[in-house]
Amino acid sequence: MIRIGIIGYGYWGPHIVRNFHSIEGCDVTIVCDKRTEALGRVKQAHPSVQVTSDIGEALSATNVDAVAIVTPVWTHFELAKAALENGKHVFVEKPFTSTAAQAEELIELAEKKNLRIMVDHTFLFTGAVKKIRQLIDEGALGRLFYYDSTRVNLGLFQHDVNVIWDLAPHDLSIMDYLIKDKVEAIVATGEKHLNAHEDIAFITVYFQNNIIAHINVNWLSPVKVRTTLIGGEKKMVVWNDLEADEKVKIYDKGVQITNREGVYDLLVSYRSGDMWAPRVEQTEALKAECGYFIDCIKNSTTPFNDGRSGLKVVKMLEAANQSIRERGRIVPI
Ligand SMILES: NC(=O)c1ccc[n+]([C@@H]2O[C@H](COP(=O)([O-])OP(=O)(O)OC[C@H]3O[C@@H](n4cnc5c(N)ncnc54)[C@H](O)[C@@H]3O)[C@@H](O)[C@H]2O)c1
Repeated sequence: MIRIGIIGYGYWGPHIVRNFHSIEGCDVTIVCDKRTEALGRVKQAHPSVQVTSDIGEALSATNVDAVAIVTPVWTHFELAKAALENGKHVFVEKPFTSTAAQAEELIELAEKKNLRIMVDHTFLFTGAVKKIRQLIDEGALGRLFYYDSTRVNLGLFQHDVNVIWDLAPHDLSIMDYLIKDKVEAIVATGEKHLNAHEDIAFITVYFQNNIIAHINVNWLSPVKVRTTLIGGEKKMVVWNDLEADEKVKIYDKGVQITNREGVYDLLVSYRSGDMWAPRVEQTEALKAECGYFIDCIKNSTTPFNDGRSGLKVVKMLEAANQSIRERGRIVPI
């Protein structure tokens, strides 16, 4: 039995508690939040779980093997470091840390103590992302050209981070999972309107081999959009995460360019074939991810969404912030 302590029971914490609670071979023993109102909600939903507002008690509890950190990003480093120092495995929310240096320190500490770190990049466990990864791995899309995502809605405004640190970790982790080529540079622009943090931003990521990605994140959109286009030489994907069914559609569309000898004009031909929607697994991604964390602890294996994958995302977020500050300067990675 792996015993879990969970820190943070705000918006996302209840989902984490519920999912760990539902996994066989895992016991949620303690939930910690500094707000007593939150602890009241824990007691109502899970009467058998011990609650505390004392972070030291949760981090050092002898009936806890692993700690899930579901608090704002600026608290992740201190809490994760203390958990590791107390010999606990760590499940930490995205984004992993506020700086790459903090992420590197935690990775080193976990390795020294032979403990696991898993960063909650929930989308990597969705049926849609798994299906797209399978299509790419099988070569169905052909050479990749681009990844283009729109992730916009009205709110929820974060007080400690800008819209990039809130929403872009999803796309950056998905891209890191789908695209094998290395990231070379980032350009980002954005603007703040209501407080000290950007509420709208546009990020461009340059990869090796001419792959380009664009992410549009916005807290001031009148409608919620979660649509990603992935263009390949052979096929193109449209992933609309808000669709109940048929989230992923594959288009057999493309462009072919031939340049015959003696003909100076390019000969462009367009292919417009079928569209189909493959079956996509419908299980709750977070449940699969929580189960995978427990398995990684039991089997002493390193999760693919470990500290190093969290670090890659933090490096891209830092580069995006730097680029925004300099009004879109290209920042090498
Ligand atoms: N994976 C996802 O899809 C997803 C979705 C939403 C949020 N998140 C992440 O989850 C984290 C939390 O986000 P949220 O929206 O739930 O925030 P929130 O502000 O709603 O909740 C955070 C909770 O942590 C508590 N807290 C803060 N510092 C604490 C401390 N030192 N000790 C004990 N409790 C403390 C607060 O009282 C609050 O109840 C963030 O890192 C966010 O990026 C991930």
